[in-house]
Amino acid sequence: MNILVIGSGGREHSLTWKIAQSPLVDDLYVAPGNGGMGEIATCVNLDASNHDEIIDFCRNKNIEFVVIGPEAPLVDGLSDRLTAENITTFGPSAAAAILEGSKGFTKDLCAKYNIPTAAYGRFSDADAAKAFVAEKGAPIVIKADGLAAGKGVIIAEEIEDAFAAIDDIFGGQFGAAGAELVVEEFLEGEEASFFVLTDGENILPFGTAQDHKRVGEGDTGPNTGGMGAYSPAPVMDEVMIKRTINEIIMPTVKGMREEGRPFKGVLFAGLMITNKGPELIEYNVRFGDPECQCLMMRLQSDLVPALMACAQGNLGQITAEWSDEVALNVVMAANGYPGSYEKNTEIKNLAAAEEADNIVIFHAGTKKEGNTILATGGRVLNVTALSPTVTEAKNDAYKALDKIDWPQGFCRRDIGWRAVERENS
Ligand code: AMP
Ligand code: GLY
Repeated sequence: MNILVIGSGGREHSLTWKIAQSPLVDDLYVAPGNGGMGEIATCVNLDASNHDEIIDFCRNKNIEFVVIGPEAPLVDGLSDRLTAENITTFGPSAAAAILEGSKGFTKDLCAKYNIPTAAYGRFSDADAAKAFVAEKGAPIVIKADGLAAGKGVIIAEEIEDAFAAIDDIFGGQFGAAGAELVVEEFLEGEEASFFVLTDGENILPFGTAQDHKRVGEGDTGPNTGGMGAYSPAPVMDEVMIKRTINEIIMPTVKGMREEGRPFKGVLFAGLMITNKGPELIEYNVRFGDPECQCLMMRLQSDLVPALMACAQGNLGQITAEWSDEVALNVVMAANGYPGSYEKNTEIKNLAAAEEADNIVIFHAGTKKEGNTILATGGRVLNVTALSPTVTEAKNDAYKALDKIDWPQGFCRRDIGWRAVERENS
């Protein structure tokens, strides 16, 4: 079968890497791909927002299955269009992708179906939002309703900061994504990511992970797309997984069906494990980046039938096999990220860094020119290790990373600190 993957990040590199191992695959394409993917797939320069172009390509190359990596094309209806053209597609419809596309929608769904989440209010008017903040007090969380590339959430320690965030959002800082906002209670606890595949009815748990969102060591500084992750997340023990499925995932899958928006794809629940149990922070309608890279390292069974079953409605017949080992990845980003950074700087010595059997370097913002790899994005490389313990995975990942010669890049040195502390206590 010929397969097309949509996307260009570390997440898509790891999905493509795993799909390339499937005996079901004949030709594998990725649009647009990045500097690391050329060896395992054919990179094609297609624009995911141009649906006609994607359809034409699929027809020309006899593509039978499309895997959509990022959220924007999902919210934009690419999955609907491909499905209407009878091309099997992994990724939810636009109607279902609203779970990530509108935070207000998801909060209302939680309220209606009794899903534990922070108490909240939805506002399209600054005065009403400020009155709510004044009543609730700080700390408090302000969120732009729509997609804001992970930057639309402000944790306000003081009331004044919350007021400023409300003014910024309604002032147009996030464009149309900020036409509405959600104000919500600040939740205390440990964060975890939980993934399930679903065909709209059946679910298949698909792993746990923990991300490191802040740019600086000790979880300091501004939020980023994620600076490193590991899987599994020790806080998600069997009891917590069961509770999350029963209290959060199943009511969501059922609720979305009842709302006439059946969800087919991967549900990525961002959770806060509070002293009351799991509470939903947010849903994403695609795999996490960099969490996905860890999941793909641990997945032992074929990814292709599992992803196809989400679209085809036979997920009940699918199982997934996982390595008992720990996967940990460290993101190398361009100096300055998440602010402005230099582009087209050269990265050397990648082959030597990737020599060990348990190391894979997934590329994100890179391009290949001749035999040279250039950094083109903010998050650039994901150095990923699979090892028996989290302490070893961390040591192995940094040992590999330290061989990379890229003076214009940096990383956090403490990825996995929470799990390492737990393992050694
Ligand atoms: P989100 O984009 O919704 O995942 O939010 C980004 C980050 O903000 C999350 O990963 C949390 O660290 C934090 N956050 C969001 N909502 C809350 C909340 N209600 N309480 C505490 N932290 C939150
Ligand atoms: N790493 C967090 C995300 O993908 O949203």
